[in-house]
Amino acid sequence: MKIFLDSAILSEIEESYASGIVDGVTTNPSLMKKAVEELKRSGENVSLESYIKKILLAAKGTPVSLEVTSTEYGDMVKEGKTLYRKFNVVAKNVVIKIPVNSSLENQGSFDGIKAIRALSRAGIPVNCTLIFTPEQALLAAKAGAKFVSPFAGRIDDALREGESFDKSDYYPAIGKGKHDNGVVSGVDLVAQCVRIFKMHGIKSRVLAASIRNARQLREMALAGADIATVPFYVLKDAIKHAKTAEGMRKFTEDIVPEYAVFGGKK
Ligand code: G3P
Repeated sequence: MKIFLDSAILSEIEESYASGIVDGVTTNPSLMKKAVEELKRSGENVSLESYIKKILLAAKGTPVSLEVTSTEYGDMVKEGKTLYRKFNVVAKNVVIKIPVNSSLENQGSFDGIKAIRALSRAGIPVNCTLIFTPEQALLAAKAGAKFVSPFAGRIDDALREGESFDKSDYYPAIGKGKHDNGVVSGVDLVAQCVRIFKMHGIKSRVLAASIRNARQLREMALAGADIATVPFYVLKDAIKHAKTAEGMRKFTEDIVPEYAVFGGKK
């Protein structure tokens, strides 16, 4: 399974790429807002255009998803093409993110699907976002999306509605037996998309998104997701374990001078 970083913060992107284990970056308007706010706080001049170029270079040739902000079919296609033309020259790694349904009122609009189809046919790779059911994933794939992004954490939010929980709290992959539209958890949503794509030989990649904790990352791998995109804090949490730190303390304590001659700690 590939791991993408779900962030538009350049320092996070640079630090995680330095680890050598990150295979791409995903952004969205909310993540861009966070990045712009951080730039403003640090007193830096905000040129989002040059900032995006830095992100594309920091991603070292791996895919970077940039989302459109329009909601009408023609506008989304125009914006997607403009973004691609302007930014793909930088590092040849731009993917255009299009919502599966761009209606703000939950209407059955095909604008997103049509935009995915038009951009994909024009040779522009599309990441279809805001997917909450396997059938939305299926339609996005049929329209030609290279990646489909089911939002796991937000499904768990919906299933926990009315309960009090922190954003990074784990939600069981097998659900809690609620009324759930046949999707019992975010992990289950991803697992169903994976199963359908395998069963029908669909080439689109399942990109598990809206992941909020390390255990969910593990379960995405077990569910067979092609890619999981994670926030920086999840990447950091995934490398931690109290017993690893305890073991490190003991090993460090036990270094005898005879062993240290090989160039380690004196
Ligand atoms: O990958 C999509 C992601 O940015 C949304 O995450 O935690 O806001 O649901 P979240």
